Amino acid sequence: MSRVAYVNGRYVPFADASVHVEDRGFQFADGVYEVWSVRGGRLNDADGHFDRLDRSLGELAIDPPMSRGALKVVLKETIRRNRIRDGLLYLQVTRGQPSLRQRPRDSTFPDPWTPPSVVATARSVSAAGAEARAEQGVAVITTPETRWARCDIKTVGLLPNLLAKQKAKDAGATEAWFVDDLGLVTEGASSNAWIVDKDGVLRTRDTQANILRGITRKTLLGVMAGEGLKVEERPFSLDEAKQAKEAFITGAGTLVLPVVSIDGAPVGDGKVGPVAKRLRRLYIEEARRTAI
Ligand code: PDD
Repeated sequence: MSRVAYVNGRYVPFADASVHVEDRGFQFADGVYEVWSVRGGRLNDADGHFDRLDRSLGELAIDPPMSRGALKVVLKETIRRNRIRDGLLYLQVTRGQPSLRQRPRDSTFPDPWTPPSVVATARSVSAAGAEARAEQGVAVITTPETRWARCDIKTVGLLPNLLAKQKAKDAGATEAWFVDDLGLVTEGASSNAWIVDKDGVLRTRDTQANILRGITRKTLLGVMAGEGLKVEERPFSLDEAKQAKEAFITGAGTLVLPVVSIDGAPVGDGKVGPVAKRLRRLYIEEARRTAI
């Protein structure tokens, strides 16, 4: 089956999907992105991701490329044309391609009428494979927090995240957790970090700090409140994580994914714990309820 990408108003064969060399995204990582998990052909947790997209664009003063309604049509059509049942939908919006009359590679913003570039791609991920991985749990490693002070904006400037991911892969792990100068875990390279601490309290860092305001995280906090679980939005140290009963990560790519080791040391008994397992099931139910 041939893949199709949406690029600036057209659905094009994947092999031909490209933006211009002067595109601000290519030249400067001057753009933002969003990721939706797709289950059963529908976008999970849809509005949370659209809301965050608006916020990221606003923080960078990039005009929304189209109305939310129009964007939904584009994304749904991208899923349909790629025949995605379960997978991921990526949307990238950059400050666009300055007109060729303008000075090449000018770091200041282009003419205000420069349209943003919009790219949407989708790929399948086996739901059965994802569930099998969640049954096993995954390993994380840690790496020093080296990112900029605006990780709340979901920009395409992901270099430290990529280096951390590669470090994790080289160590045979799935995710890397950033640890700040105080020894506190900030978040994962592509996920938010959680523990069930030694007193049985669910902990994740607050979003006043320099982390991405994960949509999965936010929805899960609602689920936890509904279940009457004890939760604290408060940072935890690496030492606390190593003594935790359970750990897990959340994100559109992972949903709720149990963590069974940190830097090679087992979390709890080194097996997937009951809390993370239950939360994964509850999150999937909730995300399905609000999917479009
Ligand atoms: N990553 N923190 C970081 C640094 C992330 O990149 C992500 C998501 C999250 C979780 O956010 P959410 O629950 O809204 O997906 C936290 C996506 C999946 C990615 O880059 O592919």
